[in-house]
Amino acid sequence: MRALFKDIKGLVGYYENPPNFVAGEEMKQFPVMENAWIEVVGGKIIAAGPMSTCPKIPSASSKPIVINCKGRFVIPSWCDSHSHLVYANDRAGEFLDRLRGLSYEEIASKGGGILNSARALQKMPEDELFDLSLDRLLNVVKLGVGALEIKSGYGLTLKAEHKMLKVIKRLKSVSPIPLRATFLGCHAVPSEFNNSSDYTTHVIEDMLPLFKSEGLVDYVDAFCETGYFSLNDTERLMVAATGLGIKSKVHVNQFNMLGGVNLCVNNNALTVDHLEVINDSDIEALKSSMQGGSPTFPVALPLCSHFLGLPYTPGRKLVDAGLPLVLATDQNPGTSPSGDMTEVVRLGSIKMGLEPLEAIAASTLNGAAAMELQSEVGTITPGKRANFILTRELNGLEDIPYRLNDVVVEKVFVNGEVWIG
Ligand code: NIG
Ligand code: FE
Repeated sequence: MRALFKDIKGLVGYYENPPNFVAGEEMKQFPVMENAWIEVVGGKIIAAGPMSTCPKIPSASSKPIVINCKGRFVIPSWCDSHSHLVYANDRAGEFLDRLRGLSYEEIASKGGGILNSARALQKMPEDELFDLSLDRLLNVVKLGVGALEIKSGYGLTLKAEHKMLKVIKRLKSVSPIPLRATFLGCHAVPSEFNNSSDYTTHVIEDMLPLFKSEGLVDYVDAFCETGYFSLNDTERLMVAATGLGIKSKVHVNQFNMLGGVNLCVNNNALTVDHLEVINDSDIEALKSSMQGGSPTFPVALPLCSHFLGLPYTPGRKLVDAGLPLVLATDQNPGTSPSGDMTEVVRLGSIKMGLEPLEAIAASTLNGAAAMELQSEVGTITPGKRANFILTRELNGLEDIPYRLNDVVVEKVFVNGEVWIG
């Protein structure tokens, strides 16, 4: 298939030679080319430029499909680097409990939360879990997601974690977009274990080597938090993973500051995710990680703050500190039952004070970098996948957050084809 997108009002994220990520001031400079065109062949972007250089349409048989984009923006597809998209049951009952006054932590301490999800997932046959998850995946593709990370962590037994990771592998084999699999081995301590340390030993010795040998693990993750996994558990998991050549993406600083950011930076984690609570020494640690060119990316999850009523990660402060902020959904049944990245961009602006281009850069190129997929997706660049969003007519990109909940995505293109999910 050959297609020519012409008269694009603003082509966002167009680079001939893209950087691996953008940080600090660069995020505001995420490029927007006015009055532009893109050519797509065989699922890839092959060229783009200002309308003054738009190729003349040949009359030959290879005549492209021409898509008029007048008044509309083209944005690289969202790259959602943090999701728990594979799960068995909704937890709307817990939501009601919260409305009636219980906190997320109180619900969890009564056997709800992650343990509730694990009970349901352990019972569900693999094929049923796959079908449910595929539906969710196709739904987020329809919303404009062009690359996605998916975690395990609702299994909490070797058998059920294995089932989750096999489902993610099967999703990879049918997915129209690139996926990354994260083994969230240390998510909650199952009741059969006395403590987090014993369960971490089981994860490290019995699960990780097996899952790695079957090609099921791109990254590992731990929930480093009071009542879940300690700094020591988290470090042991990261060290074991590093020994197998696997990087970490870690849940830290959601409710408490335990020192996880520093620990993750020292262990060269790829990302630290959540950061609803964060102090200046954490920010200094993240800044120091930038020196070698492969930083530990700070990932903010504003839907989780919105849904649980937690503080928002101070995205503005992190960008002002020169960091490569990432935004992601955290889609999961307990703290963020949505995979809508447009909403994430909106909350990034409205609640974190990010300018639209900063929020878009955090949700595209930086999201891709947080999954090491930036050579494939994240910018509009010849050679990359033709995964992008065509907006409705907008006055400017500020309309995305300003219009609050109007539909702004008109069409989604995946590998150059219009996606009708
Ligand atoms: O990122 N914080 C830990 N894990 C997930 C949600 C867990 C759940 O409640 O199911 C999160 O918010
Ligand atoms: Fe999460």
